[in-house]
Amino acid sequence: MRAMEPFVLSSERVRLSVPTIRDVDQIAAICADPAIAEWTTVPSPYSHADAEAFVTGMVADGWARETNFTWAIREPGEADGQVLGMVGITCEGEPGVERAGELGYWAAPGARDRGLTTEAARLVVDWALDPEGLGLVRAHWSAFVGNWASRRVAWKLGFRVEGTLRRWSVQRGVRRDAWVGSLLPGDPREPVEPWPVEAGAAL
Ligand SMILES: CC(C)(COP(=O)(O)OP(=O)(O)OC[C@H]1O[C@@H](n2cnc3c(N)ncnc32)[C@H](O)[C@@H]1OP(=O)(O)O)[C@@H](O)C(=O)NCCC(=O)NCCS
Repeated sequence: MRAMEPFVLSSERVRLSVPTIRDVDQIAAICADPAIAEWTTVPSPYSHADAEAFVTGMVADGWARETNFTWAIREPGEADGQVLGMVGITCEGEPGVERAGELGYWAAPGARDRGLTTEAARLVVDWALDPEGLGLVRAHWSAFVGNWASRRVAWKLGFRVEGTLRRWSVQRGVRRDAWVGSLLPGDPREPVEPWPVEAGAAL
């Protein structure tokens, strides 16, 4: 089994570092948000034990097995500060062999609409699609139909929406329709299609 040490990604406005046990209270509070329950597959209601299982299980195992790379989004600074959100990429296939990965994210309600998730996700996809980084050949994005905020983030990063898949993804026992899109290593990292007019009604 290979093991990758979690590392920090940073830009002017965000610092991404691995979520740890010290973040459990904050993660539990944020994931109780109704929008996170509505648009993701996290447990609902979300408990402290769920947050603990997330950091000690999925996050730690993901880094150790190089299957799933998760970062907490924080303010820039030396030390690990408040959790503003979470961003990660979940891979399929073996390292080095035409590997693809799915981008995922959520933001704390008070941190939304400041461009922080887009900036954080950009750092992650830049690393994931870089042949000198993770070397994925495709980044995949999906969101339940109607999740315009998530779609907007993917759109700003250059993801191309490739369609709507009916009953694509299971959320707490129910299959829901999803939008899917992709970003390839050579794609521009900026919008490649007009922002859909029907999104206006959702704002
Ligand atoms: C999706 C989510 C992570 C976005 O986080 P964020 O930090 O607000 O993202 P950003 O600020 O980088 O970008 C959000 C963009 O969506 C836009 N937006 C927000 N709500 C919108 C809506 N209902 N319709 C259209 N656009 C919307 C914002 O205006 C912003 O675009 P802009 O920068 O061009 O103005 C956040 O809304 C969230 O946590 N939602 C619940 C969990 C979730 O849906 N996760 C994704 C699952 S696929």
